[in-house]
Amino acid sequence: MYICLCNGISDKSLREVVRRYQPKSIQELRHLVPVGKQCGKCVRAAREIMEDELQHAPLYKEIA
Ligand code: FES
Repeated sequence: MYICLCNGISDKSLREVVRRYQPKSIQELRHLVPVGKQCGKCVRAAREIMEDELQHAPLYKEIA
C-alpha cells in the first residue's frame, strides 16, 4: 500500500528503511526518504509506521 502518493513510497519500503537505519525522528526519516516533502498528508501515517517498526526492531549493539 502506498503511504506517500506524491513520491510513490510504499509502507513496505518505509518499513525497510526504518529497520535498516532506525531513525530517531520523523525529520531523520525524511532525510532518508522524501516522505512528506510535498503535500504532507502522509506524515502522520509515516510516523505511525516508523514508531510501530521501531517498537519491534531488535536492538543491535556495535561491536568495536
Ligand atoms: S502524500 Fe506524501 S507528500 Fe503528499
